[in-house]
Amino acid sequence: AAGWVAACPAAALKPANALRFDHGKKTFVLVRAEDGGLHALDGICSHGNTHLADGLVKDGIIECPKHNGRFNLADGSPARAPVCRGIARYPLEERAGSLYLNPG
Ligand code: FES
Repeated sequence: AAGWVAACPAAALKPANALRFDHGKKTFVLVRAEDGGLHALDGICSHGNTHLADGLVKDGIIECPKHNGRFNLADGSPARAPVCRGIARYPLEERAGSLYLNPG
């Protein structure tokens, strides 16, 4: 079923940090950039079976902890090798102290 789902309290996601969120059969990475911008992407790196929630968030990218490939937060596109395939991006919003994801 499509629609918004409550993911976590907004305060749980600090600037320049990422959190894992699982919903149904999917796993996501929720990101708050240094500028406060919210981003939700597929949780698993397209290069390998590594979760991005342990990755570094900075300058508009998230860096995979395994081989340091990077994705652009704005659209999930690849930003540094060895990543060469993008990952999907999803709407993420803060409302009344909670984060809501629309997994589509
Ligand atoms: Fe992410 Fe290799 S598993 S860069």
